[in-house]
Amino acid sequence: KYGHTLEILGDQYPTDEITNVTPAILSKIPLRVHTQVGHPLSTLRSIIESHYPDFSHLSSFSPLVTPFKNFDELSFPKDHPGRSVTDSYYINKNLMLRTHTSAHEVEVFSKGEDRWLLTADVYRRDEIDGSHYPVFHQMEGARLYSADASGMKEVEEDNERLSRHLETSNIVIEDIPHISPTNPVQQTHDPRHSELVAKNLKLSLNGLLLRLFGGSNSEEPLRVRWIEAYFPFTSPSFEVEVFFRGKWLEILGCGVVIQSTLDTSNVQGKIGWAFGLGLERIAMILYSIPDIRLFWSTDTRFLSQFKAGEITTFKPYSKFPSCFKDVSFWNPQDSAPLHDNDFCDLVRDVAGDLVEDVKMIDSFVHPKTNRSSSCYRINYRSMERSLSNEEVNGLQKNVVSRLTDVFRVEIR
Ligand code: PHE
Repeated sequence: KYGHTLEILGDQYPTDEITNVTPAILSKIPLRVHTQVGHPLSTLRSIIESHYPDFSHLSSFSPLVTPFKNFDELSFPKDHPGRSVTDSYYINKNLMLRTHTSAHEVEVFSKGEDRWLLTADVYRRDEIDGSHYPVFHQMEGARLYSADASGMKEVEEDNERLSRHLETSNIVIEDIPHISPTNPVQQTHDPRHSELVAKNLKLSLNGLLLRLFGGSNSEEPLRVRWIEAYFPFTSPSFEVEVFFRGKWLEILGCGVVIQSTLDTSNVQGKIGWAFGLGLERIAMILYSIPDIRLFWSTDTRFLSQFKAGEITTFKPYSKFPSCFKDVSFWNPQDSAPLHDNDFCDLVRDVAGDLVEDVKMIDSFVHPKTNRSSSCYRINYRSMERSLSNEEVNGLQKNVVSRLTDVFRVEIR
C-alpha cells in the first residue's frame, strides 16, 4: 500500500503487514503545535507548567515507541484492546505511535527524575466528530516521595499547604473514598503512605483545576468529580471529569504509580503518583474552541486571536455550509465488516480536515446471503471557506474508489 519504507522525521522505517499509519497521520508528527509560541495548546502547557514550578518540564520526546514501551513495560495485559491495529497506529510490528504520554514513565523515572511534567502528541485511531481527533496532546505529571518517615512528613506538609490553598473557590468538587477491592492499595505499600500520596495527588490536581477553571466570572460554579478508574500502571486509580455544556467530560486519569514501574526504572524506596491529562479537552473549554480540528488550523483568523500566556475567548469566524454525502456498501463476503476506524482513517486520508464528522447511519445483515451492509454519512464542511459541489463530489468519488480498491467492498 505505501511501498516498503516510510520516512518519518528524516529516517526510513520498514513497513509490514500490520502497518496502518496513513500519510494524513504522519503529516502531523513534525508540527509539534504544543510548542508553537502563542498556540492555545502551548499556552495551556505553560500555564500548567507554571503551576508545577519545581518540576522538570519535558516536551521533546519522539512519538515513535515500541509496543513494549507503550504497553508491556506499563503492565498492560497481553490481550488489552488498545494494542489492536484497529485502535492504535503501527509503523510495523516493532514500532508504533505512542497512544499516551505514560509510555515515557519508565524512561523518565530511570533518569532519576522524581517530579516531572512531559507534554507530547499522542495518537489513537478514532471516530470523526467535533471533539475527537486521531492526534491529540497529553501532559503527564509525576511526583515521587521517599517511602519512609521523612518522605511522609514531606507529603503531610505539602498536603496541609495545598488544602489551605484550596479554600475559597468557584469550584464544586465531588469526591468520595475510592479504595475498593477493584481499586486497591498495592500490597507492597503501607496503606497510610498510599493514602497520603493519593491525597496529595487529589489536592494537587484540584489546585490545578482551580487555577485553570476557577477564575471564570460565570455565576455557575465549575463542577468537578472524582471517580474510580482502572489503569494497568496505577493503583488505586482515579478519573476526573468536568461538567461542561450539560455533559461530564473526562479530563484526566491518574493514580498511585504501581511499584513494578518503579522497579523497572531502578527506583528504590519511593512511592508516588502520576496523572495524564488531555490538553485539547481543557483548551476547548477554556478558550471556547468549538471544533477540535481548529487546533491544527494555520488560518490567521484562528491563530491571530491568541497571545502567548493568555487565555481569551475564541470568536468563531463565519460557519460555512455542510454538505452531507452517504455511501452504502456490502462488506466483502467471508470477512469481518469494515471497522469504523478504518472507514474514518480512509476518509481523513482523502479529505483531511474538510470532514467535520462521520456517522454510521445504518448496518444490517442480509438474512439470505448473510452479507453485511454498512451505510456511512460524511459531513463535509471546511472551517475556512465554502466548499464547491465539484470539490465535494471529487472527494466523495475518491472515498468510494478507495473503499472498493483497498477494502474490496461492493458499493450499493
Ligand atoms: N495514560 C492514561 C491515559 O491515557 C492516563 C494516566 C496517566 C493514568 C498516568 C494514570 C496515570 O488514559
